[in-house]
Amino acid sequence: MLRHAIIGCGRVAPNHIDAFAAVDGWEVALVCDEKPRAAAFAAEYAVPAWTDRAEDVLADDDITSVSVAVGHHAHADLVEAALRAGKHVIVEKPFGLDPERSRDLARYAATQDLTLTVVSQHRYDPVVAAVRSWLDEGLLGTVVYATATLQAHRSPDYYSESTWRGRRAGEGGSALINQGYHCLDVLRWLCGDLEVERAVSRTVALADVIETEDTLCGLLTTSAGAPVLLGITVASAAQWRTRIEIVGTEGSVSFDLDHPGRLHDWHGSPALCERASAEQARGVQEDPPGLAYYGVSHRRQIADFCAAVSEHRAMMFAPLDALGTLATITELYRQGERP
Ligand SMILES: NC(=O)c1ccc[n+]([C@@H]2O[C@H](COP(=O)([O-])OP(=O)(O)OC[C@H]3O[C@@H](n4cnc5c(N)ncnc54)[C@H](O)[C@@H]3O)[C@@H](O)[C@H]2O)c1
Repeated sequence: MLRHAIIGCGRVAPNHIDAFAAVDGWEVALVCDEKPRAAAFAAEYAVPAWTDRAEDVLADDDITSVSVAVGHHAHADLVEAALRAGKHVIVEKPFGLDPERSRDLARYAATQDLTLTVVSQHRYDPVVAAVRSWLDEGLLGTVVYATATLQAHRSPDYYSESTWRGRRAGEGGSALINQGYHCLDVLRWLCGDLEVERAVSRTVALADVIETEDTLCGLLTTSAGAPVLLGITVASAAQWRTRIEIVGTEGSVSFDLDHPGRLHDWHGSPALCERASAEQARGVQEDPPGLAYYGVSHRRQIADFCAAVSEHRAMMFAPLDALGTLATITELYRQGERP
């Protein structure tokens, strides 16, 4: 058995428990939280040991790997400490708050032959994988434009009850870097690197409780110059609704990242329509372990992580690619905050 530990027993931690439980030869052996919640979490998920000190996790030679599932401001220090302790690391998104530091961490992991990955579970969603293969095969032709939107609702309590959300130093932003992260990340996965042309960032509804944005819109371009629109808000009436559209010269598809990820519609050549209706018919009905819109694909990314560690191979994407999402977010904020 390879033994894994989870640092941070908050909202996303059950997704890590669920995913490791599905991998043969691995167990979550230890959980850690600096608040007095690790014991109850360990009891609820039948984890044999818990601690309130990350140092205990990192000093445990029987622990092979760790999940870093804490507030954004603490990612980089914990990832660095875990790598220096010789652990393989899966860190929740975003990679960190400082792209340069994250780049150094990715390089350090590579020099130490340690697997380091940033959670991008929606890249592993079957619908996203299908759309990527259709793009690679040319079934959509040349991308003309793409859009990704998230309408979400976050109450003032969501921020006031947290020690890190809604603060620049804690979360590094809000609507984009937290809730909107996956929309941008999946756009980058499908369309390649994106350049930020213009962004507008505003605090429309939550200015009394957060110092960060609740709404951000960006205009970006692909390396071929196609425009890409991004619209993210946590100030809508809808609790959670994403929509991604890719429009190409030969076909277009529209889908979402919510559970279960599914195609909304498709247009184009008979070859595209045949593949799209087969994908829709196949459907994916899996019960999500955590909040429904986190989806089910932590299972897929964590299975990839475990195989990479056990078989000493690369994962589906490298940490430097996740760094691209962080760098794009940083640039969207820089431009968005211009008066
Ligand atoms: N991939 C996804 O879809 C998804 C979904 C939700 C959250 N997340 C990410 O997961 C991370 C955690 O989010 P959350 O919503 O679970 O947060 P949370 O605030 O609910 O939980 C974080 C926990 O970490 C603990 N913690 C913080 N610093 C610690 C330290 N140094 N040592 C030990 N414990 C520490 C806190 O006490 C808290 O219990 C964030 O990066 C967030 O963006 C990802």
